[in-house]
Amino acid sequence: MANLIDGKRISQEIKDELKEKTAGLKRQGIEGCLAVIQVGADPASTVYVRNKKRACEYIGIESRSFELPEETTQEQLLELIQNLNTDELVNGILVQLPVPDQIDENKIIQAIAPQKDVDGFHPQNVGALTSGLPGFVSCTPAGVIQLLKRSGISIAGKNCVVVGRSNIVGKPMALLMLREHATVTIAHSRTQNLKEVCRQADILIVAVGKPKLIDASYVKEGAVVIDVGIHRNEDQKLCGDVDFDSVSAHAGAITPVPGGVGPMTIAMLMYNCVQAMTR
Ligand code: GUN
Repeated sequence: MANLIDGKRISQEIKDELKEKTAGLKRQGIEGCLAVIQVGADPASTVYVRNKKRACEYIGIESRSFELPEETTQEQLLELIQNLNTDELVNGILVQLPVPDQIDENKIIQAIAPQKDVDGFHPQNVGALTSGLPGFVSCTPAGVIQLLKRSGISIAGKNCVVVGRSNIVGKPMALLMLREHATVTIAHSRTQNLKEVCRQADILIVAVGKPKLIDASYVKEGAVVIDVGIHRNEDQKLCGDVDFDSVSAHAGAITPVPGGVGPMTIAMLMYNCVQAMTR
């Protein structure tokens, strides 16, 4: 039976470290403020936004909420971002994605000042990661690195397969594993012989958005399996991209869903917010 990688415990540990750090900064007169923008009322986004604001409160930074109606125009959203970019009291800006169809997501991401882009989505921050320069790193992949390191799993020299090539997870995940000296393969929907490719992995990271795609037949005995997916199955139970019951029988270590990668995303958002305060 695989070791469980406990994202709930590790994310709590990180938030407690950050809470101490913000208390120290406060004593030096440095305050944090994250602007959180939600356009429309997508129920999943509402839950994420609420959890992000709660985490701000926990670690001791202010969150400023902007709940905009579904019919908000791109120009209105860009104007708000411009105002927040120049607001000296705001150190982080987050626009919860997805945004409604009348708004171009890329235009919004590019409008956020890179030094306030705590999601790490701005091309300048993506470029910095690619070149090995300092910048904000996308929260979910950064969280996966912390899960591995804080579970004592070594990365250097390992074969890592990342399944999924999104801008938010797959691509930055591969770059981060490369930065940690893994040998990295990115697999995706057009990959041939996906099963054989996955079976080469010492560390298999799955971010495809397909419930229970990966069963034991994709996993080498003793491999570390990180499941970034989150779905609700037929009976409303949460599950990931990995078939946990099948894979946990012969993996070396595995993240559960819920309680694996999920809580790490918010912990790393808080990490980025504290970085934004100290720049
Ligand atoms: N929607 C899904 N994941 C994310 C995220 O990490 N950041 C933002 N802003 N929106 C999201």
